[in-house]
Amino acid sequence: MELIKTIRQMQDWSEAKRVQGQRIGFVPTMGFLHEGHLSLMRYARGQSDHLVASIFVNPLQFGPKEDLAQYPRDLDRDLAMMQTIPVDAVFHPEPEEMYPPGYQTRVEVTEVTRGLCGAFRPGHFTGVATVVLKLFNIVRPHLAVFGEKDYQQLVTIKRMARDLDLDLTVEGRPTLREPDGLAMSSRNVYLSPDERRSALALSESLRLAQEMVTAGRRDAAEILTAVRERIESRPHNKVQYAALVDPAGLEAVTGIDNRAVLALAVFTGRTRLIDNAVLTAP
Ligand code: PAJ
Repeated sequence: MELIKTIRQMQDWSEAKRVQGQRIGFVPTMGFLHEGHLSLMRYARGQSDHLVASIFVNPLQFGPKEDLAQYPRDLDRDLAMMQTIPVDAVFHPEPEEMYPPGYQTRVEVTEVTRGLCGAFRPGHFTGVATVVLKLFNIVRPHLAVFGEKDYQQLVTIKRMARDLDLDLTVEGRPTLREPDGLAMSSRNVYLSPDERRSALALSESLRLAQEMVTAGRRDAAEILTAVRERIESRPHNKVQYAALVDPAGLEAVTGIDNRAVLALAVFTGRTRLIDNAVLTAP
């Protein structure tokens, strides 16, 4: 496994594979890896000749009051985990390599970033789209794999790839969960044992919502009220948003005809957690 820190070296590595006609799979991450990240890597590995993963805590996607400085980091542990896949090359640049003095370009995806997390994290998806396009230009993958855990991010990257005619496939993969249902996240380490128990309410409320739909409930407002009540019935929990949206365009829906995404952002103590599920009407 190669650890690559410069853009030039990464581009040369990929070019050498490309001229041989080999397929490059890519999984971008911010590190502090968990089994969810590894599941994306295993999938991408199976679909390509070479696998690249990146570890870069992207300052551009954090707001001024967010957790950029505290974001958990453990490179040695991440490298050991990636050896098990195995990952062929790890791109791990310094912030100055990605954003040198004079840097001033942004990529903005305008519509699908408006609601949900976009409404509460101004500039976040512009930061994500910008760094992901840079990473695509550096790694030059044929396939890039993202988690459905960050559903709005996945839709945003797919939209960018289409709109900017990127010559690669973007694929989404299912959310990996702890045995009790909590969606795996690097930020779960912020939770105290008591908060960790309260955080279970997110996945429970997603299941509750699907049960309501299966039982014939179709009204979005009714389902969302039940979801909010379930989450806030636990200590520490405050719902930032709970929304039912169209899976493709992320517009709010008033009822569930066929499929809708239930998307949640919840503060459990000071930790902001997100989760989502596609609800299907039988
Ligand atoms: P990060 O939060 O590290 O996540 C990296 C990738 O892992 C994303 O595609 C995310 O959706 C996926 N992921 C996270 N938790 C998951 C889970 N429980 N199951 C399956 N996949 C999961 O998302 C980012 O980093 C950044 O925004 C990035 C795309 C790297 C741009 O900076």
